[in-house]
Amino acid sequence: MPGIVLIGAQWGDEGKGKATDLIGTKVDYVARFNGGNNAGHSVVVGDESYALHLLPSGIINPHLTPVIGNGVVVDPEVLFQEIDGLEARGIDCSHLLVSEAAHIIAPYHRTLDKVTERFLGKHKIGTTGRGIGPAYADKINRVGIRVHDLFNEQHLHDKVEASLHQKNQMLVKLYNRRPIDVDQTTEELLKLGERLKPYVANTGLILNKALDEGKTVLFEGAQATMLDVDHGTYPFVTSSNPTAGGACTGTGVGPTKITRVIGVSKAYVTRVGEGPFPTELFDESGEWLRTQGHEFGVTTGRPRRCGWFDAVVNRYASQVNGLTDIVLTKLDVLTGLEEIPICVAYDVDGERYDDMPTDQAAFAAAKPIYETMPGWSEDISNCHSFDELPATCQAYVKRLEELSNCRISAIGTGPQRDHIISVHSLID
Ligand code: IMP
Repeated sequence: MPGIVLIGAQWGDEGKGKATDLIGTKVDYVARFNGGNNAGHSVVVGDESYALHLLPSGIINPHLTPVIGNGVVVDPEVLFQEIDGLEARGIDCSHLLVSEAAHIIAPYHRTLDKVTERFLGKHKIGTTGRGIGPAYADKINRVGIRVHDLFNEQHLHDKVEASLHQKNQMLVKLYNRRPIDVDQTTEELLKLGERLKPYVANTGLILNKALDEGKTVLFEGAQATMLDVDHGTYPFVTSSNPTAGGACTGTGVGPTKITRVIGVSKAYVTRVGEGPFPTELFDESGEWLRTQGHEFGVTTGRPRRCGWFDAVVNRYASQVNGLTDIVLTKLDVLTGLEEIPICVAYDVDGERYDDMPTDQAAFAAAKPIYETMPGWSEDISNCHSFDELPATCQAYVKRLEELSNCRISAIGTGPQRDHIISVHSLID
């Protein structure tokens, strides 16, 4: 009954695809449990590269069943664009399952995301503008549209009307925009529903049955621990729970079915959007990491903010997710540095913090306390075992492991799929 949760341990874009690749071939189901098309990952198969935002990475593999769980917010237009793009390249997507209880991102959610950010001005979150926050806000406000609502015209019309009643007041009176038409929106959503129908299923039941039958389910997180609406750097977070607990609420599988929790961390840290980031580099080292690591967003193309490895963040990720393993990615990016700083604790107004401050004002004021390790200059992309890594590189990994309170089970050594060292199996 292996239920494996895979999550980002930092602020996202850790390279979860590498870990999925290691596990993927032995998995029966890959289920996404949070977020929407704010995520972005590239999946490389042979010479072909696929940029996916909403579909689970498992879609490329015909032997497993990709699932979009109830915790995901689904923009049907984006879903069909991704399906059409893949099918045009010969990838069959007919095995995709979408939860009937997942919430829909309607066109008005996208509009609201953009106007709200503009309205917030210097207080903006730096969202991806995909309507994620407004769709989750409707879910919590109990005026959301769920997938199964798309199949009943009268019911859908009532729901759209209820949802737009207040929004239109806001759009017109506060944001000086035109109101959104209820009938036209209902019509558009009905059409999208028609196309969505063949994929829709009771995915909670299917996943539970699969686990009971001894099948392997990979719960694939989007975004990451520090972007979690409860456990991240609030308010500079996304609107869902990318931490391990979200795998249960976002798919309808109980916590006793989870057997493994794998966190993915870069050998340094990146962040997009606004919000505090203690180890952020504003000098040429930051530029160097960005260039060496090709740190530009898959979803928005935005340059990512870059900084040194933050062990306080990783220890926190181990704690909040109950990590059993870490996959360390992009270690090769650090090749060529004489010395590599690691943030081991924070200084907040003269007080040392070894653990994550819960008060966001303290976190915003945190100055990194660094320890420095010697670097390495050898190309590590051809190393296939831990012992083949240069001694200083091994020492860097061992130190990260010690500081993170969790074993490092795999190490990414280059951009290709096979540029990975497996230290402990992620699947037994
Ligand atoms: P939203 O998820 O579009 O509402 O954006 C909220 C915050 O999360 C912003 O800072 C985004 O840049 C960030 N964010 C959302 N999705 C991702 C992701 O997949 N990787 C990294 N950051 C993300």
